Amino acid sequence: MIRLESLTKSYRDGGNRFDVLRGVSLGVEEGELVAVMGASGSGKSTLLNVIGGLDRDYGGSAEVLGRDLSKLGDRELSRYRNESVGFVFQSFNLVPPLTVLQNVLLPGYFEGGGGQPAAAARSSARDALARVGLAGKEGRLPARLSGGERQRVALARALFRRPRLVLADEPTGSLDAQTARDVIDLLVELNVKERLTVVVVTHDEQVASRARRILRLKDGLLVDDREHAR
Ligand SMILES: Nc1ncnc2c1ncn2[C@@H]1O[C@H](COP(=O)(O)OP(=O)(O)OP(=O)(O)O)[C@@H](O)[C@H]1O
Ligand SMILES: [Mg+2]
Repeated sequence: MIRLESLTKSYRDGGNRFDVLRGVSLGVEEGELVAVMGASGSGKSTLLNVIGGLDRDYGGSAEVLGRDLSKLGDRELSRYRNESVGFVFQSFNLVPPLTVLQNVLLPGYFEGGGGQPAAAARSSARDALARVGLAGKEGRLPARLSGGERQRVALARALFRRPRLVLADEPTGSLDAQTARDVIDLLVELNVKERLTVVVVTHDEQVASRARRILRLKDGLLVDDREHAR
């Protein structure tokens, strides 16, 4: 599903070059749940952004779902992001004045030119909310939800278009330990039941231990790639 070959990424700051990824090669098969760990600044988010088509200025090659991402044009890349990948971030990125259902429908609003979403879209949004255990909360405002519920809304929004790959960047970073467990349990459940491929960046060993495979980055290099019993 994901194949990275000698992935490199550098930033230029005036005359200085800073190498964030220094040749990362790895593969992730469909249906895997992989945790990515590493110190702050080791390149985890950078790696996820390349896989998700959010960053196209890199060296080496990144192939996801059979597409060489560097060969996609702007429109193809944005289509890839919208249809094939679900993103979840530490800050839930919900829009406060919108209801839970409207937040899940948000990607559809932009695409549909701001009009009223079709009945089919509303029904997929309800379905996504049911998949994350939020049936019945469609009309709530985000402010009236717990942190864990907010992250589940964000996950429902990521699942809305039925992507085959979910990329989660510290999805439990703002949650307490119990709520973090609930959110990772939900990701594990979706991975097992729906064969959703999940790559989750985390600083939390407890969260990472729920993944069968843990990748560790250090200073832009993959220093460990290990499978263990879940
Ligand atoms: N737009 C940018 N311009 C310059 N440097 C950047 C930029 N984005 C990231 N970096 C640098 O790249 C390095 C890796 O960043 P990245 O966000 O991938 O780290 P990370 O492993 O996700 O860290 P964290 O755990 O803190 O989220 C950091 O040193 C960061 O300062
Ligand atoms: Mg990061």
